[in-house]
Amino acid sequence: MKRHFFKFALVATTVFGCRSAQLPSSSPSATDVGSPSRAPSVGGAVYAGDRRPAVFPAAWPYRAGRRSVFGTHGMVASDAPLAGQAGLEIMRRGGNAVDAAVAVGFALAVVYPEAGNIGGGGYMVIHMADGRAAVLDYREIAPLAATRNMYLDASGNLTNKSIVGPLASGVPGAVAGLTAALAKYGTMPLAEVMAPAIRYAEEGFVVDSGFARSVSNNAALIEEFGGKEVFLPDGKAPAPGTRFRQSTLARTLRRIAAQGAAGFYHGETAQAIADEMHRDGGIITTADLGRYEPVWREPVRSTYRGYTLFTMPPSSSGGVTITETLNILEGFDSLSPFGSARYVHLLTDGYQRAFVDRNSQLADPAFSHVPMAELTDKQYASRLRAGIQPMRATPTADVERSMEGTRADGAKSLREGMQTTHYSVVDSAGNAVATTTTLNALYGSGVYVSAGGFFLNDEMDDFAAQPGKPNMFGLVQGEANAIQPGKRMLSAMSPTIVLDRDGSLLLVVGSRGGPRIITSTSQVILNVLDNHMILSDAMSAPRVHHQALPDTLRVERNGLEPAVMDSLRAMGYAVSWTGGIGLVNAIMRVRGGYEGMSDPRSSGMPVAW
Ligand code: DON
Repeated sequence: MKRHFFKFALVATTVFGCRSAQLPSSSPSATDVGSPSRAPSVGGAVYAGDRRPAVFPAAWPYRAGRRSVFGTHGMVASDAPLAGQAGLEIMRRGGNAVDAAVAVGFALAVVYPEAGNIGGGGYMVIHMADGRAAVLDYREIAPLAATRNMYLDASGNLTNKSIVGPLASGVPGAVAGLTAALAKYGTMPLAEVMAPAIRYAEEGFVVDSGFARSVSNNAALIEEFGGKEVFLPDGKAPAPGTRFRQSTLARTLRRIAAQGAAGFYHGETAQAIADEMHRDGGIITTADLGRYEPVWREPVRSTYRGYTLFTMPPSSSGGVTITETLNILEGFDSLSPFGSARYVHLLTDGYQRAFVDRNSQLADPAFSHVPMAELTDKQYASRLRAGIQPMRATPTADVERSMEGTRADGAKSLREGMQTTHYSVVDSAGNAVATTTTLNALYGSGVYVSAGGFFLNDEMDDFAAQPGKPNMFGLVQGEANAIQPGKRMLSAMSPTIVLDRDGSLLLVVGSRGGPRIITSTSQVILNVLDNHMILSDAMSAPRVHHQALPDTLRVERNGLEPAVMDSLRAMGYAVSWTGGIGLVNAIMRVRGGYEGMSDPRSSGMPVAW
């Protein structure tokens, strides 16, 4: 119960607690595109193809035709404009999108420490203008001393130790990932792309109300561990308008800039992490850190109505689940008008079936066989599509039974996370990077490596901490995702790059929101590809969420007309309103440049030049 309560407290305090860092006064202003849904060309954005005005329910808070940002040379869409500025700075100096993405990643660790990180991990999808595509998995791994039942108490009950405190952390992958991406696809020295982040840490950045609120909302967690001296001096969050410096973090970043990943995984930083662990009963050792490796994987490359998608394979479930859903939907000639009961029905039933597979089949491929080819196969999707009843909900239990013949049974494994951050980057050559990174909960496990100046993740909670038993959200996680030493915990992060029918870059997109990452990212894609929305409408549009279990359809509050809600209930769905589904940062190619949009549900903001 305590664990349950704690998690909900975190949810309540985050309220998708996005915020923006203050821009330096010298920052270039991005160009607004005005209200492009009413015209094919406004303020610079000219839409290729068929874009149509969107219509949302009257009570929906985000209107159609919102302003987005237009740029001709390059763009970063992220939750923290100051981090975006780091990316622009690098591109202006001649860096490509990968150089810029790495700069953004390190800058987020400074200016957005609740989710940006060097103590966590993530995934990066890269599409180069010359056609090369790559995906990098720098997810955390379970420490070597991790054990299957490490989060159970003597009576076999789940404790909150997978969420809070030193046992909650996986071995961080962020620094290994960012440096590996730079080495393979970047053009600049590490020290150069890290320079903005180091400057932000050394010179500080001006605290805005969002940052102050984020720290003060999470003061209880931060206070428990070493972060209080930096984040809560005199017991209070830094006041808006003051300058926030992180000199210890700056020294760690300088070590990384000088030594590469070794500056984190060996020597002083590694020892600082191990000492922090040792002090508080954690289990990550210098041996764990020394053996961490990011993994270049084959992208999930799929097609949808002639468009091409590049997404993440396991250890993230994101790419496979999105692909399976879209494969199911592709078999319908059209999806019915956006916001209609049939539209929601088809989407929901696609998600429901894809999540059944997600829940039971997906895990770290180094530890379990993942039937990738079958799950992403269009024939397989058409068999699943055949089970969708016209205008009638199918209970998840029936869907599972009907899928048992084709898929091995497995337990369900879905849990909702608290805080993550996605950023999309494009450069003038057409190179693109989609990256999602996280500490899991806001400020991760709360454990702050005092001698290193950063928070550690609580990603161990993404494992099946108690296989076969309901988790705090009433869900059951599968054996495939049980804790094993050295294993990556299953993620929902879904950085995705979509190519137009002619093979040119169209969309760079991703989200945060635990399993809602999958549904929010894919709905923005569907809004652009199927519903012909301009990017800002695609982002503003109301979203729905179904994750198989619990067998409920969540709809963003006031996101559907009351009559549509009634129809869905009559069709047998357990429908309920919910808060925001995901926070997306996306960039779309338009004629003459790029249009960028941060989720209107957040205070993120794209920056462009
Ligand atoms: O990897 C995952 O799926 C989770 N750790 C992500 C958590 C998350 O997105 C929280 N954000 N709101």
